[in-house]
Amino acid sequence: MAEPTSPSIELLDLHPPAGDLRADVLAGLAGDLPGAASDAPARRIPPKWFYDERGSALFDAICDLDEYYPTRTELAITRDCGGEMSMHIGPRALLVEYGSGSSIKTRVLLAHLRDPAGYVPIDISRDHLRASAARLAAEFPGLEVLPVCADYTRPLDLPSPSRIPGRTVIYFPGSTIGNFVPADAVDFLRVAHDEAGPAGQLLIGVDLVKDPAVLVPAYDDPRGVTAAFNKNLLTRINREVGADFDPDAFAHRASWWQDPAVEGRGRVEIELVSRLEQTATVDGHAFTFAEGESILTEYSYKYSTTAFAQLAAQAGWSVVRVWTDPNRLFSVQLLDRSEAR
Ligand code: AVJ
Repeated sequence: MAEPTSPSIELLDLHPPAGDLRADVLAGLAGDLPGAASDAPARRIPPKWFYDERGSALFDAICDLDEYYPTRTELAITRDCGGEMSMHIGPRALLVEYGSGSSIKTRVLLAHLRDPAGYVPIDISRDHLRASAARLAAEFPGLEVLPVCADYTRPLDLPSPSRIPGRTVIYFPGSTIGNFVPADAVDFLRVAHDEAGPAGQLLIGVDLVKDPAVLVPAYDDPRGVTAAFNKNLLTRINREVGADFDPDAFAHRASWWQDPAVEGRGRVEIELVSRLEQTATVDGHAFTFAEGESILTEYSYKYSTTAFAQLAAQAGWSVVRVWTDPNRLFSVQLLDRSEAR
C-alpha cells in the first residue's frame, strides 16, 4: 500500500469583487444605499464592514459573553443532535459551507457525518480560508477539502469531489441569514436552492424570536463589548477611507422591532446615534448629524419556526427537522427541496 501523503489543498479562486468600503460609506451616509427596510433610518452602512482585524477580534469576544447566547447554543445543539442530523443527511454527502470562517461548528458536524464525499468551504477572505482549510484537512485525513474563494451570495460553479456524492448539503450556520431583510433572505435561499441540486438539503442556523429582555442585552452587553464592536466601524472608516469621526460622539443602540406584518418575525436593530449635532468629513465630503440622528449598522432578524418555514417555502425549501436547545433560544434546521419530496 502506498504511503499516505498529506493532501495538497487546491484553492479555487473565483475572484470575488473587492468590495468598496469608500463607495458604501459615501452612498450609505448620503442615504442612497438600497437594501434596508423602508421604515429604516435614511443612513446606513452594511454590517459586512465590521470585520477588520479588530472587528473580528471584538466579534470573537462577543461570542464569549454570557449575554450573547447564539454561538454557544448553536454549538451545543450541533454537538447534541449531530447524530440525528447525520442520519437525515445520509452517507457520502458533499458539505458546502457559506462563509466558513474558522469552521468551528463544522468540525463538530463533520465528525458526525458518515463518510462525507467532501467539504467545500466558501469564503470571501482568501488568506483566512486557505489557512483554515489546510488545518481542517490535516484534522480530517481522507476528507477531500475543496476551498472556494467567492462571494456566496451570487451563483457559482461548485467544484466536484472525486467521489460521486450522495447529495449536496448547503451549510449556513451562525444565523447570518438574520443580516438580510426578508426579501433578500428569500433571494439568497433561492440561490442556495439552485446550488444544492435536486436531492440537495440546507442545514441552517436560525436564531429564534424571544423575550426582548433576553435579546437586547445580547446586543448591548453591560461590559460594552458590542458597543466597541459597533464604534470600531467608525475607527475603521477614519483609517481606511480618510474620515474624522469621533467614535465617542456616537452612542451604541440596540433595540427590538417586532414586524407588525408577520407574527413571529422581528429584528434587533443596531445603530450609532449621534450624541450631539456634529459634522464629520469623509474623504472630503461633509456629513452633518443632528443630535439623536442615527446610522443603521446592522439588522439581526429573528424568526419563529413557523415564520422561518414560510420564508423558506418562498424559495422552494421545506423544513424536514428543527433542532433547538431546551430553552428554545436557537435552532438548527434541515430543509430539502419541496418539489423533490
Ligand atoms: C454574525 C450576524 C450572526 O447578528 O448575532 C453580534 C453579528 N452583531 N453582535 C448577529 C452580531 C452584534 C451576528 N451575526
